[in-house]
Amino acid sequence: MDRIKNKVAIVTGGANGIGRAICELFAEEGAWVLIADIDEPGGKELAATIRSKGGEAEFCRTDVTREDDVKCAVAMAAGHNGRVDILCNNAAYLSPDFHAALESTEKEWRGCIDVALLGTHSFTKAALPYMIDQRQGSIVNIVSIQGMEGMMTSVAYTATKAALLGYCMSVSYDYGLHNIRINSLCPGPIQTRISADPLDPHFQWQCDQTTLGRVGYPREVAWAALFLASEEASFITGITLPVDGGWTSSSARKRT
Ligand SMILES: NC(=O)c1ccc[n+]([C@@H]2O[C@H](COP(=O)([O-])OP(=O)(O)OC[C@H]3O[C@@H](n4cnc5c(N)ncnc54)[C@H](O)[C@@H]3O)[C@@H](O)[C@H]2O)c1
Repeated sequence: MDRIKNKVAIVTGGANGIGRAICELFAEEGAWVLIADIDEPGGKELAATIRSKGGEAEFCRTDVTREDDVKCAVAMAAGHNGRVDILCNNAAYLSPDFHAALESTEKEWRGCIDVALLGTHSFTKAALPYMIDQRQGSIVNIVSIQGMEGMMTSVAYTATKAALLGYCMSVSYDYGLHNIRINSLCPGPIQTRISADPLDPHFQWQCDQTTLGRVGYPREVAWAALFLASEEASFITGITLPVDGGWTSSSARKRT
């Protein structure tokens, strides 16, 4: 309890899946949370659920690709008490229809770049002035192990996630002296609405790539996000933290 008490936190793509788990945990730990998402029913329902449990949350309908929406969302968060302490850039363009380079489409490239990469940049740009004034801020970007290693038929997604790792290192370099930290959190397979069905052979394949032999849960990503967002990570910036059950650290995938 209270690990980020009275902090103002923004979570993009916060209405579902990993973002939702992050919103819930941040609120349980005392933050005032702004859920910034295009999913209005989902976001409003989550804000009401958090408040019904004694937490503090508001929803702001926000498309991260629209600069006006982003400015409104950050102004709404700052309207709470003048501060923006934590920004979690989590929204991404997620499609069951990703391809290898030869088949990849303009739509998937634009979606990946506009939502995950430029959306992260827009929110970061809008939050930084508050963080600079405060001489304090923590940005947590939800990336993917696909930013760390190649995977089948998803070139636009993989390239965009890898670009986010570079974005993080660059921003951490430029704003470290302002006491602003930014880190990349790379989930492995996490069970959300976009995941493989447990009856699908791909689900077992994913389990077999991890040393723990299972997929992860949104709450397990949220715990890592909480750590990076909090003062417990006060000397940690610019890092890439896999939350992947050992996927990237081992040769578990060679199991038969
Ligand atoms: N689930 C996994 O296995 C997994 C693995 C690695 C990385 N990730 C990353 O985690 C993040 C969350 O994924 P998830 O599995 O929770 O997906 P999800 O679909 O459950 O949640 C994504 C959220 O983003 C919102 N969103 C989409 N486009 C948006 C936009 N333009 N503006 C604002 N909000 C928008 C959606 O409405 C949704 O609420 C993504 O960045 C994804 O790449 C997920």
